[in-house]
Amino acid sequence: MQVCVIGTGYVGLVTGACLAHIGHDVICIDNNAEKVKILQAGQSPIYEPGLTEILREAIQAQKIQFSSDLEAGIEHGEILFIAVGTPALPTGETDTRYIEAVARGIGENLKSGYKVVVNKSTVPIGSGDWVRMLILDGINEKRPELVDQSGAIKDESLLSFDVISNPEFLREGSAVFDTFNPDRIVLGGSSQRAVGLMKELYTPIVERKYAENQTLPPVPVLVTDLSSAEMIKYAANAFLATKISFINEVANICDRVGADVVQVAQGIGLDSRIGSKFLQAGLGWGGSCFPKDVSALVHTADDYKYEAELLKSVVAVNKRQRYIVVEKLQQVLKILKGKTIGLLGLTFKPDTDDLRDAPALNLIEELNRLGAKVKAYDPLVSQSGLRSGLSNVIVETDPLQLADGCDALVLVTDWQQFLELDYSKIAENMANPVIVDGRNFLDRQALETLGFRYVGVGH
Ligand code: UDX
Repeated sequence: MQVCVIGTGYVGLVTGACLAHIGHDVICIDNNAEKVKILQAGQSPIYEPGLTEILREAIQAQKIQFSSDLEAGIEHGEILFIAVGTPALPTGETDTRYIEAVARGIGENLKSGYKVVVNKSTVPIGSGDWVRMLILDGINEKRPELVDQSGAIKDESLLSFDVISNPEFLREGSAVFDTFNPDRIVLGGSSQRAVGLMKELYTPIVERKYAENQTLPPVPVLVTDLSSAEMIKYAANAFLATKISFINEVANICDRVGADVVQVAQGIGLDSRIGSKFLQAGLGWGGSCFPKDVSALVHTADDYKYEAELLKSVVAVNKRQRYIVVEKLQQVLKILKGKTIGLLGLTFKPDTDDLRDAPALNLIEELNRLGAKVKAYDPLVSQSGLRSGLSNVIVETDPLQLADGCDALVLVTDWQQFLELDYSKIAENMANPVIVDGRNFLDRQALETLGFRYVGVGH
């Protein structure tokens, strides 16, 4: 099928590349000409395992092209994905100006035929109808003769479109895998024609042709109304964030009563009603989705005069959790002023170079405020990769160098390779072999045998 993806950020690029990989004819549009050039050369501006490979393959097979020409993109696609950014405003509300510009742009460039416009970005609940209105405004602006007095299209046999909400549930670091192995596909909208075309688009994925396990039953496709599909995305992220904040609260209680949250999580996770995933206590959640989406849902509730007390607490628990490591350092080292603290990991989670809302950033700020010297090592972040406000951290290029002269190490990100470090050499390099394991990730016994003082979170 002919597909146009507008916006080549995280979601747009992965969606475009994966749809091209399964045989569709894709054009990706971005108004950033520099980025388009990089993509045309077969390079990915983001780090995502497997993405560069499928991107290059698709370029070679002429299944994907990149351009800044919105008009040409709209002409090309029978399915138009809106995948532009929806960042959070300082108030927690969603900044929808990019969606607005693209929706109007679609309307201004629609000429004839039938198009399915798909909201792939995480958009505030109610955006489907709003996008529809903006597209009609755009048509009215450029071709008023096609629209009647009420703003509706006069002759739908010449030009028509439907809006579908199709939220994504991709995790950074496994976005390509998640696209080919989804738990479900959600399609929100009332037009049978649009839903039918979307089902056709996803058939190879639904039939698991590109899945790791091709013997599994087909991927469930859930068809809902527009608002429910939009809500599913927020509710899923809010639920996962709640699960993490919940286990972090339990961990803090474990710390006080002498229980081990790792064993507790195992014990409750075996209850099939609870499930074992997202029960890893530690420094809490960060990244580009959970913080933004939970706050946006709280805000939407506020707009409709409902105080989302539970979700507000989920956010508050997560904020506090980031500083618990500092308290632990103070308990062991007492005064932090003049001490050197080494952070193992900076990114908000492993297998990504993403620092958005990463707990490490709050840690650095707080440790600096308390007068400690902060060093860090991350497999994917260099000194130049840090934003300028973070000049008070020295980014080392290897873990042994990081350990040099440190009074304590803090494991911030659970990178697999941190399990395999030479901790006896690390201990030798440190002024004081203390390790605060902010993800309950390392082998406590092995570290204690090497002479480390090990501190976990509720563990
Ligand atoms: C999340 C959702 O999982 C995904 O479905 C949605 O589309 C986007 O948001 P992502 O932000 O990539 O994906 O990361 P995820 O793997 O979900 O982790 C989010 C945060 O929670 C990370 O900071 C991670 O360290 C933390 N986390 C996760 C925990 O602290 N404990 C856990 O048990 C799981």
